[in-house]
Amino acid sequence: MSVLVTALFAACALFSSVNCADSSVEWCYHLPSCNDTKWPVIASKYCNGTRQSPVDIVTTAAKGDAKLTEFTFHNFDSKSAFKTIENTGKTVKVNFNGGMTISGGGLSEPYDSLQLHLHWGNGSSIPGSEHTVDGKRYAMELHIVNVKSVHNLNVTAAGADSTGLAALGFFIEVMSGDATGQPASWKTLTSYLANITKKGNSSSMASGISLDDLLEGVNRTKYYRYLGSLTTPSCNEAVVWTVFKEPIKVSRDLIDLFSTTVHIGNGSSPLMVKIYRNLQPPQAVTTQASDSSSTTYLSMGLLALSLMLGRCY
Ligand SMILES: *[C@@H]1O[C@H](CO)[C@@H](O)[C@H](O)[C@H]1NC(C)=O
Ligand SMILES: *[C@@H]1O[C@H](CO)[C@@H](O)[C@H](O)[C@H]1NC(C)=O
Ligand SMILES: *[C@@H]1O[C@H](CO)[C@@H](O)[C@H](O)[C@H]1NC(C)=O
Ligand SMILES: *[C@@H]1O[C@H](CO)[C@@H](O)[C@H](O)[C@H]1NC(C)=O
Ligand SMILES: *[C@@H]1O[C@H](CO)[C@@H](O)[C@H](O)[C@H]1NC(C)=O
Ligand SMILES: *[C@@H]1O[C@H](CO)[C@@H](O)[C@H](O)[C@H]1NC(C)=O
Ligand SMILES: *[C@@H]1O[C@H](CO)[C@@H](O)[C@H](O)[C@H]1NC(C)=O
Ligand SMILES: *[C@@H]1O[C@H](CO)[C@@H](O)[C@H](O)[C@H]1NC(C)=O
Ligand SMILES: [Zn+2]
Repeated sequence: MSVLVTALFAACALFSSVNCADSSVEWCYHLPSCNDTKWPVIASKYCNGTRQSPVDIVTTAAKGDAKLTEFTFHNFDSKSAFKTIENTGKTVKVNFNGGMTISGGGLSEPYDSLQLHLHWGNGSSIPGSEHTVDGKRYAMELHIVNVKSVHNLNVTAAGADSTGLAALGFFIEVMSGDATGQPASWKTLTSYLANITKKGNSSSMASGISLDDLLEGVNRTKYYRYLGSLTTPSCNEAVVWTVFKEPIKVSRDLIDLFSTTVHIGNGSSPLMVKIYRNLQPPQAVTTQASDSSSTTYLSMGLLALSLMLGRCY
């Protein structure tokens, strides 16, 4: 027993991909024997911790923090930054060529962008974002994983640093109206899904779309911040989370492609659906000082005052 446990932990230390951080533990989303309720048991070292992600963000509880300045997104406009797109059996992941970095945004130092991947439910009607806002779950969530630059993209080293990783979370919402194939960048991205229907499939990506293109329409000056973890085993508590307030809008047909195209194994395995971790206990969340609940409290205070003075109604 203890030999096995030691071996598992030794294997954990060798993990190399962030979203499937721990391949030594057979974790899953879809079976009672290995779904997220079991992760604290089968990957107890970190998944049973006290700053686990995702969380529900309670907007009125988010405190203003003047240190949460604007980000600088370096090379996010590069149209040749995407290297490969991969079906990992747990998600769809895009590996980046080097060269994209983020800084500012209240981060202590620069981080190098490594990959993006997605979480979803079952089509556009069963939402599957990981974070929720005041209990609202969005259709999908995009995660951009960044590694503190001093770690030189060594994810093992970053996973042992309490702020070694910076994850950017973007909600994806169904675009209103009956548009199809929008935005064009998402039509391009999803066009690769048919080539990676099975676990382990990978396709190289042609140049043409940038991260800026995928994040179209989101005002990246508005976000929430908290300290949390990877949302998949081994759940390392190494992540500075940034969750942007405004969602990316994608047409229903493209959102539906994720849950109808890619499988968790070979062609006879289930489709990849409901690939998100359930909510974990709340953490202290901050937001821009100018956009915090203090503004709400102020207006509530003024309302109360005017009510007392009998000037309302
Ligand atoms: C996850 O597993 C637990 C038991 O371990 C079960 O109660 C629950 O229904 C499962 N959830 C899913 C989505 O399979
Ligand atoms: C998880 O942590 C709790 C509280 O620290 C502890 O009581 C429990 O035994 C742990 N479970 C596992 C499977 O390690
Ligand atoms: C997902 O949705 C499809 C179509 O509505 C349905 O047939 C399938 O059973 C659902 N799968 C899960 C795991 O909920
Ligand atoms: C990555 O970091 C780990 C832990 O600090 C270290 O043991 C390992 O040698 C590093 N790997 C490389 C390729 O530098
Ligand atoms: C998918 O694979 C086919 C056959 O290898 C190839 O011709 C096509 O360009 C690929 N599609 C994409 C979007 O990469
Ligand atoms: C996808 O993976 C399957 C199973 O490993 C393999 O047989 C198939 O050739 C792969 N397809 C592509 C396009 O790489
Ligand atoms: C983004 O939001 C900030 C803060 O509300 C605002 O000052 C700025 O004008 C917005 N930018 C765009 C492009 O809408
Ligand atoms: C698909 O995977 C299942 C279970 O992993 C296996 O039993 C089956 O032989 C595989 N089928 C093919 C065609 O590879
Ligand atoms: Zn993720």
